[in-house]
Amino acid sequence: MGKIVIKTPEQIEGIRKSSQLAGNTLKYISNYVEEGVSTHYLDKLIEEYIRDNGAIPAPLNYHGFPKSCCISLNDVICHGIPDEKTILKPGDILNIDVTTILDGYYGDTSTMFTIGDITDQAARLVEDTEHALYLGIEQVRPGNYFGNIGFMIGRYAQAKKYSVVYEFCGHGIGLEFHEDPQVEHIAPRNSGPKMKEGMVFTIEPMINLGKARAVVDENDGWTARTVDKKLSAQFEHTILVTKDGYEILTDVGDYEIFR
Ligand code: MF3
Ligand code: CO
Ligand code: CO
Repeated sequence: MGKIVIKTPEQIEGIRKSSQLAGNTLKYISNYVEEGVSTHYLDKLIEEYIRDNGAIPAPLNYHGFPKSCCISLNDVICHGIPDEKTILKPGDILNIDVTTILDGYYGDTSTMFTIGDITDQAARLVEDTEHALYLGIEQVRPGNYFGNIGFMIGRYAQAKKYSVVYEFCGHGIGLEFHEDPQVEHIAPRNSGPKMKEGMVFTIEPMINLGKARAVVDENDGWTARTVDKKLSAQFEHTILVTKDGYEILTDVGDYEIFR
């Protein structure tokens, strides 16, 4: 187990700027997410926006990842690779995950979008997954256990008969893309390390309609799908532990996600 970095005020300011850019990238792309566009097209717009703002898309070439963001449709849990043949169609739900490097500092956030008429079950999954993220965020304060983030998310999701993905976690972030600790989205109460002021990490629950298990595509080595092909949803924010609570560094205000 490595050490959890406490960020300096100067580092926090850099991570805040990068995180705001990541959030603003999602707000920007929300204007282009619609029936008929390819995920490759959205990836190109995202890359251009990030570069125009003086930053670098962190996923590009990260352990060989070939694109600038992850776009994960329907039964894809996470790490979907944008491509020209994936065209958005009515009924789709999708996650777009953006990570920026600005002046060497990382910010990481993702949101769901929906296309046209979706089933009530899909709409509820999307809304409930966002709510689960916020239940996790409300646990963030100095002295609380990281496990209580996963305890609250897991208890809520299971009460709604969903399952929580356990093979991918949130993570420390800021000076690198993935730092310690791993932030579990389903965990025992009062487990794991304690949070301290100046820690920065993501919370990014992935919640499934069916079984929790993920299967990684053996052809591309990235795309993680539900084992039973049922829907999965995810939301992510980068969070700072403050003196008496938290700051959502990637929060840039509301935009429409149902379209
Ligand atoms: N942004 C993802 C996360 O939330 C990680 C993507 S890794 C990539 O941690 F290589 F697929 F981009
Ligand atoms: Co992340
Ligand atoms: Co992410």
